[in-house]
Amino acid sequence: MKGIHSVLAAFTLLAFVFSFASASDPGPLQDFCVAVKDMKDGVFVNGKICKDPKLAVADDFFFSGLNKAGNISNPNGFSVTPVAVDQIPGLNTLGISLARIDYAPYGLNPPHTHPRGTDILLVVQGTLYVGFVTSIPDYRLFTKILNPGDVFVFPVGLIHFQFNIGKSEAVAFGGLSSQNAGVIAIANAVFGSTPPINPDVLAKAFQLDKDVVKDLQSRF
Ligand SMILES: *[C@@H]1O[C@H](CO)[C@@H](O)[C@H](O)[C@H]1NC(C)=O
Repeated sequence: MKGIHSVLAAFTLLAFVFSFASASDPGPLQDFCVAVKDMKDGVFVNGKICKDPKLAVADDFFFSGLNKAGNISNPNGFSVTPVAVDQIPGLNTLGISLARIDYAPYGLNPPHTHPRGTDILLVVQGTLYVGFVTSIPDYRLFTKILNPGDVFVFPVGLIHFQFNIGKSEAVAFGGLSSQNAGVIAIANAVFGSTPPINPDVLAKAFQLDKDVVKDLQSRF
């Protein structure tokens, strides 16, 4: 009897802790969501507005074309084909999405973060050198060389990259733990913002000459 009681007590405690934890707000599903008083002026409801479930059809949960390579004719030599809530409206509120990434020989998916999602990457063709860096205080770099069939995880929010170190094209698929994980390409965000960040700020932050900063800003 005593054993059963302590099991019951443990379950009660667990239920209490769980209800407490799930009483908080859900994580945001976009960069921000400024409140408006009138619904007609609104756009997002922490994600997207929901369709009447009675009107849902199979195509709301469907996407076709991930067998096709993306266009890799760009300076970094890579392309991302997202399959997120904008491509499959049925993903709304489900916390998951997918992407295909194509890499030219020596193509690079440059350092970037997904502010709202962990990224689990499966290589199906080619050889990628991948890595991520942890946050303060140690900024540890974790790297791996991946071949077809290999899977690697980039934890939510951390800066990561993939570099095709092979002489042929590479292909990978990434699963993301968000319907809209978001992408912040570090160089583009820092040197290519609109309007530009004051060069004095970047010269000091990166310990660079201001002319070098201006040159970098002209490239993004
Ligand atoms: C690929 O992108 C380049 C650069 O934007 C463009 O010139 C080219 O037409 C595109 N190719 C295809 C097949 O869409």
